[in-house]
Amino acid sequence: MDITTLSIFENRCLVNGNWITSENNLEVKNPFDNSVLTSVPILEESIVLQALQDAETAQKKWKKASVNERSHLLRKWFDLVIQYQEELAIIMTLEQGKPLKESRGEIAYAASYIEWFSEEAKRGYGDIIPNNIHSEILVFKEAIGVCAAITPWNFPAAMITRKVAPALAAGCSILVKPASETPLTALALAKLANQAGFPAGIFNVITGSSTSIGKIFTESPIIKKLSFTGSTEIGAKLMAQSSPTVKKLSLELGGNAPVIVFNSANLEQAVQGVMDTKFRNAGQTCVCANRIYVQNEVYDEFIEKLRLKIDSLKLGNGLNPETDIGPLINSKAILKVEEHIQDAIKKGATLVTGQTKNTNGNYCLPTLVKDVTQEMLCAKEETFGPFAPIFRFYDENDVIKMSNDTEFGLASYIFTQDINQYIRVSRELEYGMVGVNTGIISNAAAPFGGIKSSGIGREGSKYGMEEYLEMKYVCLGNIK
Ligand code: SIN
Repeated sequence: MDITTLSIFENRCLVNGNWITSENNLEVKNPFDNSVLTSVPILEESIVLQALQDAETAQKKWKKASVNERSHLLRKWFDLVIQYQEELAIIMTLEQGKPLKESRGEIAYAASYIEWFSEEAKRGYGDIIPNNIHSEILVFKEAIGVCAAITPWNFPAAMITRKVAPALAAGCSILVKPASETPLTALALAKLANQAGFPAGIFNVITGSSTSIGKIFTESPIIKKLSFTGSTEIGAKLMAQSSPTVKKLSLELGGNAPVIVFNSANLEQAVQGVMDTKFRNAGQTCVCANRIYVQNEVYDEFIEKLRLKIDSLKLGNGLNPETDIGPLINSKAILKVEEHIQDAIKKGATLVTGQTKNTNGNYCLPTLVKDVTQEMLCAKEETFGPFAPIFRFYDENDVIKMSNDTEFGLASYIFTQDINQYIRVSRELEYGMVGVNTGIISNAAAPFGGIKSSGIGREGSKYGMEEYLEMKYVCLGNIK
């Protein structure tokens, strides 16, 4: 499939309303066969610096646009994203590798953030606070200013819209640096936003070197807020780089999600929940099940049911409608999965189904291993691939302790039919999100985010809008 024949294909950057090229370019490859799809500009530093200034000028007007205008433009962008869902999904599958059915799902999910924030644009409520000393305390919510976003390759559309839509709704301008592996979905989204009619400079997409653009974003006093989704290591670095200019930050970082299957669980539901959270995007999600704890009484039955489902998954080219699991993003990703599998087996775990060594090129067979323990690498690190390690547990208190025994705190999941147990355990889990009897927790209406080393801030919901707003308190003296 020739990506350049798609009507919304774009390989230039959108900067202050202009489509920019560069002499130096970066190749974008299809992870299915490593073929080159196209290349995108490595923008020069001077162009990025100018883009920041233009975004600042544009934002001064945009923050004064009526909330209806901001809302209507977002709605138009949403309509265009839905209209071009199929083309966007094809672009995503070509550059990211995920199955087309998942890409379609991600475009719908990405669009839902635009729709949500087109509505939230009208709800930037402030407060009036009664007070004894002064007659009135007024609290206004105001746009924070020029924002920047650095987005990952695993969700090339949704991680952009859930940062850009609230920023635009709040009256901010934004510059997005998409992942170098997946810039084409971002550029196609920008093309549609441009078509929707956002003023020049409000939404910019900048491609090039992650290190140098990250440095410009973090060091510039023009950028008042940075939102990043990616690894904890890079997030901490961006946080340190941002400290001299005291920026507001949203960081959605690594996870190490536990799934707890209790004896009381509906096992069909638990198996489906694990399939949903573990194998979405071939396990390349931050909220993906990383450790699966199964209680003793249902241990063997659960593993057998899960094995049957795993063995039915079809690997292949994401463009093939039958495909359930596409390639991993690159060879480094495959090596990490293999390292975790081999480490577990070396330390005493048993392979139930899957692969221990790479014989499948860019693919990694979905792999199930049982009798895993807390000492193994996969208990401590995020695997980010289609590897399901099963741990046996006996007691609720023990499993809570094991689940919380990590520096991360993004997503967690429990499966139980006992109402007291799910309330008790949800409260004890040290995570930003808990899925109960479901493996799918992502939703534009919900506050997505983590605690501990998994980051700060929330995306989506009414709280996602707050991330792009500042409070201004006006103290009204007594009226005489
Ligand atoms: C992520 O993996 O970073 C995001 C997943 C989601 O939004 O569901």
